[in-house]
Amino acid sequence: MIEMVTSKSLGVKVPLHEAESTRKKLIELRMLDQKRKIKRMGGYAFLPVTRVPKGFSIVETDFEEVEEKKSFKEKLREILPAGKTITSYDIIGDIAVIEIPQGLEEYERRIAELLLSSHKHIRSVYEKKGEVEGLERVRTLKFLTGEDNPKTIHKEHGILLKLDISKVYFSPRLSYERERVLKQVKDGEVIVDLFAGVGPFSILLAKYRRVKVYAIDINPYAYEYLKENIRINKVANKVIPLLGDCRELAPRNIADRVIMNLPKSAHEFLDLSFQVVKEGIIHFYSISPKQDLYSRQIELIREIGRKTEKEVNILGKRIVRPYSPYNYHIVIDIGVK
Ligand SMILES: C[S@@+](CC[C@H](N)C(=O)[O-])C[C@H]1O[C@@H](n2cnc3c(N)ncnc32)[C@H](O)[C@@H]1O
Repeated sequence: MIEMVTSKSLGVKVPLHEAESTRKKLIELRMLDQKRKIKRMGGYAFLPVTRVPKGFSIVETDFEEVEEKKSFKEKLREILPAGKTITSYDIIGDIAVIEIPQGLEEYERRIAELLLSSHKHIRSVYEKKGEVEGLERVRTLKFLTGEDNPKTIHKEHGILLKLDISKVYFSPRLSYERERVLKQVKDGEVIVDLFAGVGPFSILLAKYRRVKVYAIDINPYAYEYLKENIRINKVANKVIPLLGDCRELAPRNIADRVIMNLPKSAHEFLDLSFQVVKEGIIHFYSISPKQDLYSRQIELIREIGRKTEKEVNILGKRIVRPYSPYNYHIVIDIGVK
């Protein structure tokens, strides 16, 4: 049931055909009461006013009040204990994935329902349960509200990514990083995406550049979505999907660019990336503590450079995003000759 709140107030009464010009006039005079709705009845319009304007017919009547539109954050404040809030949620396609902080577990359902009702484009709400885990880097999720369907289509930089959030890794928080890499890529490059997932890097680069991309993933679900995403984004002539372990499948001595987005254990594959690159750039992702963001990784990079007798240049380094309270997801761009 929709509750209609009305209250008595002064209004200007004009014939219906004068309603629009009168509304404009009252706005100009700063006398239109914007907290109440204009009423039309019996061939007349009644315009609520905050003060009595000269030269108009004034009546006292009931006006419906304009619903106050509150933001999600404001509504959240009303249901949570003072000083508490939720700090983060991701939107993947039409699914929201939220983190419920410790101590707010009893509010999880109400928070989820609020999220659903405040965002028209959200269909389902899931909760993150623990870290991304295992070889496939998938996170355990708990369904909270809406439609229990973890499949969606995410749009990013003009490409479409079909995926199932319960079966594959995907993070919208890497969107800027993907665009950063895209800006470096030149037509004609051969790229090897060692940990391609459903293809957010591979497909983006193929969509906007004349390149050849080898996209490898060990997770069969990710591989199926990768193939589907290649098809729907019409990049089949540029991206070669490969299912399996990149150690076995990655072509050697071929790449102008290697992407290594497996931050928890990319260091174990750094030697491989040096075999894959011909002369070019390796985007090496890692997780580092706040107090020592890059030095351990740079030491390892230089060591592998020495062993493989390749010239190494650190072309750039940056924080991609916070990973946990004390750790950051970082990237180092390595130039190899
Ligand atoms: C952190 S996810 C990144 C996926 C994708 N690049 C993205 O940004 O969404 C890492 C991916 O590496 C895959 N993976 C892990 N070990 C692998 C291996 N040895 N060979 C190929 N893929 C692997 C996982 O299945 C997972 O999809």
